[in-house]
Amino acid sequence: MTDIQDAVAVVTGGQRGLGRAFAAELLARGAAKVYVTARDPRADDDARIEAVALDVTDDRSVTALAELAHDATVVFNNAGVLHPSSLLTGPMTDVTGTFETNVFGALRIARAFAPVLAANGGGALVDMHSLLSWGSGAGAYGASKAALWSITNSLRTELASQGTHVVGVHLGFADTDMVAAMPGDKLAPAEVATIVLDGIEQGEIEILVDDVTRHFKRALSGPVEGLAVPLG
Ligand SMILES: NC(=O)c1ccc[n+]([C@@H]2O[C@H](COP(=O)([O-])OP(=O)(O)OC[C@H]3O[C@@H](n4cnc5c(N)ncnc54)[C@H](OP(=O)(O)O)[C@@H]3O)[C@@H](O)[C@H]2O)c1
Repeated sequence: MTDIQDAVAVVTGGQRGLGRAFAAELLARGAAKVYVTARDPRADDDARIEAVALDVTDDRSVTALAELAHDATVVFNNAGVLHPSSLLTGPMTDVTGTFETNVFGALRIARAFAPVLAANGGGALVDMHSLLSWGSGAGAYGASKAALWSITNSLRTELASQGTHVVGVHLGFADTDMVAAMPGDKLAPAEVATIVLDGIEQGEIEILVDDVTRHFKRALSGPVEGLAVPLG
């Protein structure tokens, strides 16, 4: 269970999309401060928000963030990219770039902030996955989220002794830039943030935001054909 009241949070990718909604919900629930990151950050009018430059593919950038945000108690590994190109015919850089950001970038953040969270009493690490962690599709994106899911589950074990609450979040579609070109019903980012913060405060370790995600989690135990996701 993680108390958000008086927490100091870090939200990577916190100036757009879901990250922005997480930052707003954290503050609405009494967080004292939120560091939000962007590759090209802009100052925020709210004195409780500190905007910081971050590129999760750059070790030095991640280290600098962890040094600055040494008071962090809750870290959202939210930054991510989606290149929907084919695994077979799309540019290989789409595959490597997706893993550099969604997998190794998130792990860089976890490695840099594990000692910070330990020094501040344990805290929480929140990793953003997808229904595509389990369902096939969207080029390298699904594969990257599957890898991150596995990493999150291993980190939960590695961080248990320091009392860090490790949370994995899975969802289908939310209405952000990432999926703007894709048709389909989309949740409002604020709605996702409410569900995720409720789960974190209640001590959940895996938050399945919507019905379609719960469907694919159940489908894991069935025939593999059931994991094909009809996208677009
Ligand atoms: N939207 C959905 O339907 C959906 C569904 C399931 C899971 N998710 C996951 O939720 C998270 C947020 O997605 P979103 O929909 O809010 O996406 P978004 O609107 O496209 O925003 C992506 C965020 O990631 C940041 N980012 C990308 N590459 C980065 C890098 N190399 N270093 C640092 N920051 C980087 C961006 O920062 P800049 O401002 O610097 O560009 C931006 O804030 C992602 O992990 C995504 O995979 C989204």
